[in-house]
Amino acid sequence: MSALKLLVIPGSLRSGSLNAKLAAVAAHELSVAGADVTRASLSDFPLPIYDGDLQAKSGVPKNAVNLKRMIRAHHGVLIVTPEYNSSVPALVKNTIDWVSRVQDPHEVRGEVFHERVFAIAAASGGRLGGTRALAALRLILSACHATVIPNQLALSFAEHAYDDMDHLKHPADIEALQALVRQLIDLSQRMM
Ligand SMILES: Cc1cc2nc3c(=O)[nH]c(=O)nc-3n(C[C@H](O)[C@H](O)[C@H](O)COP(=O)(O)O)c2cc1C
Repeated sequence: MSALKLLVIPGSLRSGSLNAKLAAVAAHELSVAGADVTRASLSDFPLPIYDGDLQAKSGVPKNAVNLKRMIRAHHGVLIVTPEYNSSVPALVKNTIDWVSRVQDPHEVRGEVFHERVFAIAAASGGRLGGTRALAALRLILSACHATVIPNQLALSFAEHAYDDMDHLKHPADIEALQALVRQLIDLSQRMM
């Protein structure tokens, strides 16, 4: 059987991003568990703010098409999002909005969400660890008819969660990540 292919996408472009660090740790755990992991950066897929007039005039931007095809080449996706003002950053929402408008030949629009498993995680400096962003992201992905796995990871006080090697240092965080990884792998395998 071919390898399970999983895509990890951090929802922050910031250098030193706590979410990019969490995405890196998660990608490592997923590959240790046997998955073939790709890490994407949204900086490689810059997109204008969604505008229906722009779509009507010029179509969906190539970067949205490319990202959608990258997602399609994987069995499951992990999105690691920051929390901005109790929700997802515009970057994450705008990217999903554009990707949801892509319709390749012989496909139903939004099909890329229906046929994949999504996992969600967040890291923030606060006590809630981005829990509200995760609730928002779960709702958005569910609206796209994605299967979002029940486990999620909200990494609180994230500035203090990593050691000098950028590994998670608290056992509870490591256990939560491992539970997320296990469930993402189990459910994604059913999509193979
Ligand atoms: C516009 C803005 C709004 C924010 N709102 C929240 C918030 O609602 N809850 C929270 O825990 N952190 C909030 N933060 C802090 C972010 O969680 C923190 O900056 C985090 O490091 C961003 O993720 P990153 O390190 O991956 O870039 C906010 C930050 C910004 C810039």
